[in-house]
Amino acid sequence: NLRSCVRGVGSALPSRCVANAELVGKVDTSDEWIRQRSGITQRYVAGEGETTSTLATRAAEAALANAGLAASDIDLVVVGTATPDYTFPAVATQVQASLGIVHGVAFDLQAVCSGFVFAVTTADKFLRSGSNKRALVIGAETFTRILDWNDRTTCVLFGDGAGAMVLEARESDGAFASPGVIAARLRSDGRHRAKLYVDGGPSTTGSAGHLRMEGKEVFRHAVGMVTDVIQGCLDDAGCAASAIDWFVPHQANRRIIDASADKLGIPREKVVVTVDRHANTSAASIPLALDLAVQDGRIKAGDLVMIEAMGGGFTWGAALIRW
Ligand code: ACO
Repeated sequence: NLRSCVRGVGSALPSRCVANAELVGKVDTSDEWIRQRSGITQRYVAGEGETTSTLATRAAEAALANAGLAASDIDLVVVGTATPDYTFPAVATQVQASLGIVHGVAFDLQAVCSGFVFAVTTADKFLRSGSNKRALVIGAETFTRILDWNDRTTCVLFGDGAGAMVLEARESDGAFASPGVIAARLRSDGRHRAKLYVDGGPSTTGSAGHLRMEGKEVFRHAVGMVTDVIQGCLDDAGCAASAIDWFVPHQANRRIIDASADKLGIPREKVVVTVDRHANTSAASIPLALDLAVQDGRIKAGDLVMIEAMGGGFTWGAALIRW
């Protein structure tokens, strides 16, 4: 009986940090509006030489160091991203090459902001099947490169970054108290396409395009969708929300995070929040938050951690992990 156990985490941010005040000169907005509506105070913006794959590689190196492993110990690389360096090859194979891994398999997975939850769930299935032994699961994005800086309703909300987790297949007794991925639920519904999308691509405009969002519509659906998959994970695990030690949601908006936690009855002190300092980094937001909470001593071995996300498509999902 195999389970996918967390062996290490790491993250990487661009060197340039942009506070709300710096945007005010370029965009018709205010620090107060951004803080009130989203909780965001600053974001990191990739500069010259910083791309999704370079950030992903740095995060992967940090996770390997945290795990006490060499790159050659990894035989699976899964990268959740909607902002690859190039249409192809995949960011995952670029990370593989940068780390010097010449065996195993690497591929990208596209579920926008849900990318990390989808990547963890996918890697978990590979590891539990016995086909692969150790996975680097990465969420990496440079969303600032697909923003329309003339659209104040979207450009103030996003940032760049990457986070990584090393998952390892281990024999398990399958008990609720034993480490590893305990439950996961993924969903998607393509009818919601127009509420959150990018208006370009290789098969249409031939350009990368810009992010478009009906913020109110996304907000309206988000809380119900994520709490639904979280409840599914809790049902699968046979536990109540009160068993969760740390709730690590996708960091899109402070109000969505608070409303989701409230609906589930999860107290605020158990919620890891980074949207204030990172803004919405799409697939990178959860592993960035996990790394922060591990490094500052909040998440410890034995803790029960719930991750969840919702993004363009719509896609949404949750996973329950015993650390
Ligand atoms: N600065 C100042 N004013 C602004 C700004 C801005 N940056 N943007 C919009 N406004 C104005 C609007 O024009 C509007 O003015 P009006 O009333 O005169 O027309 C007013 O502020 C209110 O705008 P709303 O859109 O109603 O603001 P709302 O309270 O809905 O907040 C927000 C907007 C923050 C986008 C919110 O709807 C939200 O967070 N939605 C969810 C978005 C989200 O989570 N997206 C990520 C999903 S994950 C992914 O896959 C990318």
